[in-house]
Amino acid sequence: MNLYALIDRLCAEHRLELCEYEALISGRTAELSDYAAKHADRVRREIYGNRVFVRGLIEVGNYCRNDCYYCGIRKSNQSCERYLLSDDDILSCCREGYSLGFRTFVLQGGEGIFPLERTLSIVRRIKADFPDCAVTLSLGEYDTEDYREMRKAGADRYLLRHETADREHYEKLHPREMSFENRMRCLYDLKKLGFQVGCGFMVGSPYQTDGCLSKDLKFIETFSPQMCGIGPYLPQKDTPFAEFQKGSADKTVYLLSLIRLIKPNILLPATTALGTADSKGRERGILAGANVVMPNLSPVSVRKKYALYDDKICTSDESAQCKNCLSARMKSIGFEVVTDRGDIKEQ
Ligand code: SAM
Ligand code: FES
Repeated sequence: MNLYALIDRLCAEHRLELCEYEALISGRTAELSDYAAKHADRVRREIYGNRVFVRGLIEVGNYCRNDCYYCGIRKSNQSCERYLLSDDDILSCCREGYSLGFRTFVLQGGEGIFPLERTLSIVRRIKADFPDCAVTLSLGEYDTEDYREMRKAGADRYLLRHETADREHYEKLHPREMSFENRMRCLYDLKKLGFQVGCGFMVGSPYQTDGCLSKDLKFIETFSPQMCGIGPYLPQKDTPFAEFQKGSADKTVYLLSLIRLIKPNILLPATTALGTADSKGRERGILAGANVVMPNLSPVSVRKKYALYDDKICTSDESAQCKNCLSARMKSIGFEVVTDRGDIKEQ
């Protein structure tokens, strides 16, 4: 198979067969990655120019009822020092973020962090105080009716990584109580309810094969999410997967390019995990087709406690420093961080 021709076809048709995705992934070379990145960069510039959207990430708490084997805030981790922000803490993060130019706030936390009513009242308060801002939730799995209420309260977007589109792989990453079906049900529900939806996965997670990754790409092609968050798997020392190797930043950057070619207008972050795996990871991600960065807006006093993985960057910088640092990093590669809600451009 001529892999360069496959990339040309992906550019033109935005779809490939499963075996073709797998061939592209297993045949990755530095030259092929550069080729994919050049195309992805051009495609993204045609739609978004050199504008990079920012999202203010507020890590609302690290209590979690799940026990994902890879995650540092899993409920069985006795070494995790737990915290929960108050509504006023969250609102003051938004206020600070607003003054720094953020027009999207992402509330992320462990599973079941707030009772539904509290989630709804926080969303309503943020939307009342900052009517020109988008609210994104990333709070895990809920019933259909709960998601409906969140949407009615004004939440605009929802991030729920599918983690892997291969059922058997999913079962190796999660304990029995968690199900692949429910994760997928949630994603389809969110879409039906009118959220802008983000799925995503870790690159190089334990037991992942190129076959699994090809299913992830096929899932993105068919589900057609508005956003997709991917980052390398990074070990956390107190989890059952502590001894597994970290995922590759190079492979993550390549996959970002392929995702851009599958869905040219997708909102695609260069993630903190990518910046942790490689000190220039976020710049490399943007140059390869990403168009979103997510500086941390959480109070510095809790930053280190939201330790999904070891050695996470940006845990001691004030929000303003983090925003300025990212703006400077983007500027250094010819991109501009903009004050904008950063909605998807429908084509
Ligand atoms: N509870 C919500 C959920 O499950 O969607 C949001 C928080 S969860 C910690 C956010 C994401 O962090 C997960 O979807 C997972 O992909 C990522 N993550 C967790 N542990 C990680 C690790 N060790 N390395 C890289 N990413 C990780
Ligand atoms: Fe947080 Fe650079 S982005 S300090």
